[in-house]
Amino acid sequence: NPDPRELLDLALEAARRGGELAARGQHGISVLDTKSSPTDVVTEMDRATEELIRDILLGARPDDAVLGEEGGAAPGATGVRWLVDPIDGTVNYLYGRAEWAVSIAAEFDGRVVAGVVEVPVRGQTYSAVRGQGARRNGEPISAAAPVDLDMALVATGFGYEARRRSRQARVLSTVLPRIRDIRRVGSAAIDLCAVAEGSINAYYERGAHPWDWGAGALIATEAGARVGGLRGTPPNHDLLLAAVPGLFEQLHDLLEPLGADSDD
Ligand code: IPD
Repeated sequence: NPDPRELLDLALEAARRGGELAARGQHGISVLDTKSSPTDVVTEMDRATEELIRDILLGARPDDAVLGEEGGAAPGATGVRWLVDPIDGTVNYLYGRAEWAVSIAAEFDGRVVAGVVEVPVRGQTYSAVRGQGARRNGEPISAAAPVDLDMALVATGFGYEARRRSRQARVLSTVLPRIRDIRRVGSAAIDLCAVAEGSINAYYERGAHPWDWGAGALIATEAGARVGGLRGTPPNHDLLLAAVPGLFEQLHDLLEPLGADSDD
């Protein structure tokens, strides 16, 4: 079996170099393509950064599998699969904002065992190895103490398609009067790290992908948060929810009857 600490070291190196490349190219970039809607953009730097990260990971471990946001799936033979989001928070990146991250997770036999979320403009590196706690710039971090839902600062995110966004707005109209306030940071990976360091109490989103949450979910879990979907499922595309135990259940019980995991 691979040593998760070695996988983490490789992820740290790839995230650092990918983050440097993306940060150098942040200003004056152009949009190359769009995905699910005209506002769901891919920049030249999304592609270049993912290519660099793939080269670093596969240069060191050529037989591993990779699933990347831009480059898709490459099969492997070792049981290790890398989940790569070169720039999570692409719209922030495009607008010259700071809230974007490189997210790299290493799965072994389908389970994330190590993860890194690098936030280059803020100089923050979040990391975790399963069973060994979560860190920011090498120092241990932990999620905030439990609060009741009505005192919770909650982050969320929205999809890019109009139908999903209308539904998300309707869910939010019920959530908003029940909580302290809402934040829409624009990067799922950073939202999960915010739960991990206690700068936000909870986060939920419909429609996120494994490359968005792979690293951040491990970091939040290792910091003491609970991360999952609705009705006891693991985190998934339908709904991703993270909060300390207690608050997790309160937010779950608010979101579940609202159908927050559906577009209809
Ligand atoms: C997006 C961000 C955003 C979330 C979207 C994601 P991208 O990732 O994480 O916060 O709301 O669902 O797609 O497109 O910037 O990599």
